[in-house]
Amino acid sequence: MKLYLDTANVDEIRQAAQWGVISGVTTNPSLAAKENQDFNTILTSICELVDGPVSAEVISLEYEEMLKEARKLAGVHKNVVVKIPIVPEGMRAVKTLAAEGIKVNVTLVFSVNQALLAARAGAAYISPFLGRLDDIGHNGVELVRDIVDVIDLHDLDAEVIAASIRHTEHVPAVALAGSHIATLPFKVLKQMFKHPLTDLGIEAFLNDWKKADQSI
Ligand code: G3P
Repeated sequence: MKLYLDTANVDEIRQAAQWGVISGVTTNPSLAAKENQDFNTILTSICELVDGPVSAEVISLEYEEMLKEARKLAGVHKNVVVKIPIVPEGMRAVKTLAAEGIKVNVTLVFSVNQALLAARAGAAYISPFLGRLDDIGHNGVELVRDIVDVIDLHDLDAEVIAASIRHTEHVPAVALAGSHIATLPFKVLKQMFKHPLTDLGIEAFLNDWKKADQSI
């Protein structure tokens, strides 16, 4: 399972890219609104930092407008993936854009039916939002598992991006559910490094080394 970063914060992306663990980035209008820069500049910077897919979302819900926005976003860099919500006009746009070679990440997916529609329209990526499902008492990880199963069973081309990840326990859960990608808030990515036994182990090695014959 590949790890993407789910943020529009360039500093976070720079750090994570230096660690060598992320393969892509996803953004959304809410994440972009938290930054004090115009989105075009942000998107360009992200694409310079990460050599992998970078999702940027359209705002319009109307076919022609979506196409206009999508083509503009895709023109920023070859790695830009356009994010489009799972609505009928959106799937019409996915079909057109896929035929033009523009990759689409279908977002705000909360059911297997929506995922199937997205895959049939030609989505390159499908983003089920598991945290938001957990929030309303459903099982987000099970949805990811079901979508991956349907894609495999019917030999569909889309890759699943487990999105709306809220904590570190979501990560192994969606990896075991077969998700192709998980997109993580920076906080969760940082927490993945942590284990108390790692900290204790480092401390013990450093202390023991002080007692060792250090001549090589
Ligand atoms: O990028 C989409 C998704 O990850 C949003 O997550 O925490 O707003 O539900 P959240």
